[in-house]
Amino acid sequence: MQHTQQSRAAAAAARALAGSRSLAMLTGAGISAESGVPTFRDAQTGLWARFDPLQLATPTAFAIHPKLVWDWYAWRRELVAKVQPNPAHDALVEIERRVPDCLLITQNVDDLHRRAGSRKLVELHGNIGRVKCSREGTVVEDWDLVGDEVPHCASCGALLRPDVVWFEEMLPPDALAAAEAMARRCDLMLVVGTSAEVYPAAALPPIAKASGAIVIEINPNATALSPTADYALRGPAGRVLPALVQEAWPDTPFAAIPRMA
Ligand code: OAD
Repeated sequence: MQHTQQSRAAAAAARALAGSRSLAMLTGAGISAESGVPTFRDAQTGLWARFDPLQLATPTAFAIHPKLVWDWYAWRRELVAKVQPNPAHDALVEIERRVPDCLLITQNVDDLHRRAGSRKLVELHGNIGRVKCSREGTVVEDWDLVGDEVPHCASCGALLRPDVVWFEEMLPPDALAAAEAMARRCDLMLVVGTSAEVYPAAALPPIAKASGAIVIEINPNATALSPTADYALRGPAGRVLPALVQEAWPDTPFAAIPRMA
């Protein structure tokens, strides 16, 4: 019974995707889980199950323990540099090719969407591969580790920090404005691998829904968004998304896309 309901939901979601003329895609940590990047809130494996965000992901934490925060981000930077995009990232690249008016809005800082080939992309929470001055906010391209110290800005001497958004900080205004504008005008929003608990990103699906868009969630687990999603496709994004794209556009030239069960 559940299987039939899921197949029907998948077929209807694929029809909606194929018919979309203006498409927003919102992703979270779950889309990179199958690449080997840990999520934040999964009970056993999430980063926030093992680490305290208040000690690592706030401006106050950086002011008190810059080296601890720097090293934690350096560990994550090295981790994401070693992994590869997975079939879910690839499927979103294919969608960008199929629907010219689209925008991929990600909360992820891992750069895997860009490495997969997505180009119409806004990064709401920054990018862990970049570093910026903690005083002026200027992105710094060339920086060197001297010994074991947190590096300093060459122009003002302040500490450098990862170019990511921490708790208690504002999102980059241009990225947020572009995301909200797309949420208001899209006819379909795909929401992949996010717990939908962190604002303002979590407000985007309700904005889309209130503006008349269809909302499709792809996530193995129910989330805060599930009750209001038009279709909730349960399963790992690396399996569900390629199957959805294949069903929407049967001529998709993916090699060996797994069929949805
Ligand atoms: P979360 O860790 O809160 O949620 C990850 C979601 O991915 C969960 O709903 C999982 O069920 C789902 N998931 C796990 N494996 C999956 C898979 N294979 N395919 C699809 N979904 C899967 O991560 P986010 O929602 O991204 O912000 O968290 C939002 C923000 O909170 C992050 O950007 C980060 C974090 O604190 C900052 O650091 C500022």
